[in-house]
Amino acid sequence: MPEIKEVNPLREGLSSRMMPQPCAVVIFGATGDLTHRKLVPAIYNLAADGALPPAVSVVGFARRDKNDEIFRKELEEAARNFSRQRIKEELWTRFASSIFYHRSEFDDLEGYRSLAKRLEELDSQRGTRGNRLYYLAAGPDQFPIILENLRKSGLNAAQSGSWARVIVEKPFGSDLPSAQRLNEMIKGAFSESDTFRIDHYLGKETAQNIMVMRFANAIFEQLWNSRYIEYVQITASESLGVEGRAGYYDKAGALRDMVQNHLLQLLCLTAMEPPAGLDADAIRDEKVKVLKTLRPITGENVRKYVVRAQYGAGTENGKRVPAYRDEKNINPQSTTETYVALHINVDNWRWAGVPFFVRVGKRLPKTATEIAVQFKAAPPVLFNAEGQTVDSNALVIRIQPDEGISLRMSAKMPGSSLRIEPVKMDFHYGTSFGKATPEAYERLLLDAMSGDATLFARRDEVEEAWTFVDAIRAEWDKDSDDLAIYAAGTWGPSEADDLIKPHGATWRRL
Ligand code: BG6
Repeated sequence: MPEIKEVNPLREGLSSRMMPQPCAVVIFGATGDLTHRKLVPAIYNLAADGALPPAVSVVGFARRDKNDEIFRKELEEAARNFSRQRIKEELWTRFASSIFYHRSEFDDLEGYRSLAKRLEELDSQRGTRGNRLYYLAAGPDQFPIILENLRKSGLNAAQSGSWARVIVEKPFGSDLPSAQRLNEMIKGAFSESDTFRIDHYLGKETAQNIMVMRFANAIFEQLWNSRYIEYVQITASESLGVEGRAGYYDKAGALRDMVQNHLLQLLCLTAMEPPAGLDADAIRDEKVKVLKTLRPITGENVRKYVVRAQYGAGTENGKRVPAYRDEKNINPQSTTETYVALHINVDNWRWAGVPFFVRVGKRLPKTATEIAVQFKAAPPVLFNAEGQTVDSNALVIRIQPDEGISLRMSAKMPGSSLRIEPVKMDFHYGTSFGKATPEAYERLLLDAMSGDATLFARRDEVEEAWTFVDAIRAEWDKDSDDLAIYAAGTWGPSEADDLIKPHGATWRRL
């Protein structure tokens, strides 16, 4: 039986959640960036918040030669740099004693057999109760061999009364066939309910709040359709360039890297119907329905509905930055897109005729993600009569930073003349709840330990999203003469403005 932990309702709101069972979290690719920047800081923060049973243990599985002590020291340094909360000496010392290192090649079955023994020892020494959470944080080319060896060594099979789950980090394939192959491979070792495909945007507090805002407030849902909404704009802009990820990024590009997963997930949460319940499958069923109703963009329509671009040299925060093609380890002739803008149609009753404008880019002026729902204008009478226009309402969900929601309305400016100006009603997470929002990985790790797959992508979701994206890629792969160039530090190419102008829309300045 899982232990129940009562939480302080003033800190946690009205709901309390179950504390997960003790388990061993085995991280494959434990010496990599993700482990240092995200996973270990997330587990430390969960432990520091008292959200984990003390028996939870972390086992790093990687190729480099090192021992527990060295591994713990490296992780401590990383946690000091990347943890949301300041590292407290005493807490860290206790936490560090639950971290272990297991050296092995990924293709060495013996390494998995000895891992099995080590995990059994942890069961008896630390009380991890035979529960295993495997985290595939290595390069995706290593996933097949890791999954195969987990199966061959029997590590995938839980003892009775225990569980074995797998978390698969992105990229989840690079197109539909590769995603299907990976899904089949996973299926050979783990059931769908034990498979947790990460999309870290779903772990972001504000992404989770989209459903609450829509379905816990009667006022919005009534207006949430083509009768009242003119268009929806979803933006994920980043000021960073490709950073140290040239090898991966130059093959992927923005469409695969961000649209296939994060942006389509945000679109699904915005467009989905109310689910039949709050369980994982009821919610994911509704998201899949949205993906199935996306109008495919194929052939000649790709140029009409999608703009791709790459950053050239420019200025970011007052500093000159190089063009994408001049970045370290990028092919100087690369045609990889670092920016995409799409006009997506959701062909169902609720959304027929409402364009979803989606854009994503690197080296834009600001790092911010938001969903803006633009309502239709008031009828052309009274204040909107001929010759005068009043700004229409917009509901903006700020996913990050400055998480919150704002509603733009029109108001009369004080004074003897009738001057109408836009004003904002603004909700800020920080000021309303007075606490920092947890990192997405904290929530996702906790959910996977608790067996809750709601915030993870299901097999059919991933495959539907690839189907949509692959059709665009197929056209792009024919030639690249439509690739536009934008100066780093600007809001993307003018072609993206032309994409939405015919709908009376302009891209929002974030
Ligand atoms: C990752 C992409 O999935 O998301 C990166 O691979 C991108 O290219 C990152 O920078 C953005 O995530 P966040 O949480 O910083 O918005």
